[in-house]
Amino acid sequence: MNNIPVIHMSSVTKKYYIGEPNELQILFDIALDINEGEFVSIVGASGSGKSTLMNIIGLLDRPTDGSYMLNGTDTKVLDDIQLSRIRNKEIGFVFQNFNLIPKITALKNVELPLLYAGVSQKKRTERAMELIELVGMGDRYTHDPSQLSGGQKQRVAIARAMANNPSIILADEPTGALDTKTGRMVMDLFHRLHKEEGKTIVLITHSPELASETDRMITISDGRIIADADRTSYNADEAVAEQEVSAPEGKEAEGE
Ligand SMILES: Nc1ncnc2c1ncn2[C@@H]1O[C@H](COP(=O)(O)OP(=O)(O)OP(=O)(O)O)[C@@H](O)[C@H]1O
Ligand SMILES: [Mg+2]
Repeated sequence: MNNIPVIHMSSVTKKYYIGEPNELQILFDIALDINEGEFVSIVGASGSGKSTLMNIIGLLDRPTDGSYMLNGTDTKVLDDIQLSRIRNKEIGFVFQNFNLIPKITALKNVELPLLYAGVSQKKRTERAMELIELVGMGDRYTHDPSQLSGGQKQRVAIARAMANNPSIILADEPTGALDTKTGRMVMDLFHRLHKEEGKTIVLITHSPELASETDRMITISDGRIIADADRTSYNADEAVAEQEVSAPEGKEAEGE
């Protein structure tokens, strides 16, 4: 791991309905540095602002205020086309509901980001096949998403996220729709991408067990970072207790 911040945020806020009577502030004064090669988890109650923060990190959304530097580039000065170009090249997304394109094969799904990046058909297929093999889907690549199980879909989605060899993988509850065993398989894949490919990974999860496997756990509550703990000083039982305090409705957080 290097001490180069790939993600550097200071005083980031996010508001909706700005200037209107029902103005809504979702993120408050976020300061966050994530270094190259870190595997970070983000935890917190439902509605605390995790996905909002992740969408800003992934350039799907912009902060209302504050600064966000990605790989040393100030994102404020970039227009939407530049943002989507950087997003396609630098960031791989994995979502709870897979977000695969229906009615095209697993292979074609993995090829899509390569198509957007202007890679030739031959190279696209080569790279996509390599990734399909990497995630253990070599015997299913001609299937379309409706013919795949949840775990298989998520593996295809991870292969797609890796297509342009991004430096950062952002995963928003990637195991949220999977049973424990399948979730385990997906988590093992993230560990491999982290260890073997040196990816920087940011994982949102409601599972304290999965969070405890990452290098660092960031806790968000009501739009603020309230804890940022090194795994070495991390205690899973305390985290469960903390989550129960911050999410008294509790049940939602047990969804996995
Ligand atoms: N486009 C929007 N307009 C208005 N409010 C929004 C918008 N997007 C999100 N919010 C609000 O922002 C808050 C944080 O939402 P967010 O999706 O970031 O929570 P989360 O921590 O990811 O929750 P979960 O664990 O349920 O996924 C919520 O109260 C939500 O209603
Ligand atoms: Mg969310």
